[in-house]
Amino acid sequence: MELYIDDANISEIRRLIDLYPIDGVTTNPSILAKTGENPVKVLKEIRSILGPEKYIFAQTIPMTAADMIRDAHALVSLLGEKTVVKLPSIPEGFKAIRTLSTEGILTCGTVVYTPMQAYLAAKSGAAYVAPYINRIDNMGFDGVHVVQQIQDILTLHGFNTKILAASFKNSQQVLSLCAYGIEAATCAPSVIDSFVKNAAIDGAVNDFLKDFEKIAPSGQSMADLIS
Ligand code: G3P
Repeated sequence: MELYIDDANISEIRRLIDLYPIDGVTTNPSILAKTGENPVKVLKEIRSILGPEKYIFAQTIPMTAADMIRDAHALVSLLGEKTVVKLPSIPEGFKAIRTLSTEGILTCGTVVYTPMQAYLAAKSGAAYVAPYINRIDNMGFDGVHVVQQIQDILTLHGFNTKILAASFKNSQQVLSLCAYGIEAATCAPSVIDSFVKNAAIDGAVNDFLKDFEKIAPSGQSMADLIS
């Protein structure tokens, strides 16, 4: 499963990329707004942290297909080939995705709350569709189940489109979709950290340290002892 950081905080992106096997960063206008900074400057900085190979997802702003396409071209020219342009999965968005996919630009149909939105984005040529698990849960439906249904539809109809599962609030939601074979997930930094945030794990690691100190001077590593 591809794993993306759903955040634009530069220090958090640097920290997570250093520690975890991260495939890139996803943004949307709300995520960029949280930085309080110029969005173009932030996107360029994220690209420079990611290097040329990892993917950055950036969203178009206008509501008409023609202007969405204009934003998409500008984003790809700013951020390079490994850019996935996010477009809302609404009628004008499907129209823009159709054009952009014929131009070879990678797109993600975002703001997906229903399986038929995902179906239409996939049929329009989107490389990814992004359903919002936690927001669907908060509407009284089962977000994980909706995403599983979308995956079944994509498989049944032979689309190459990947699901980029988004809007997670806990690691259980991610685990359920990872176990189902969902191909990509994007998570806030706190959710990524929660994958390994567990007192039992910390306890076991600390026990190893303490036990080793019984047979070697405190703070010494294997490399120290071998050298
Ligand atoms: O990538 C979409 C995602 O950012 C939405 O998440 O937490 O605003 O529901 P959230």
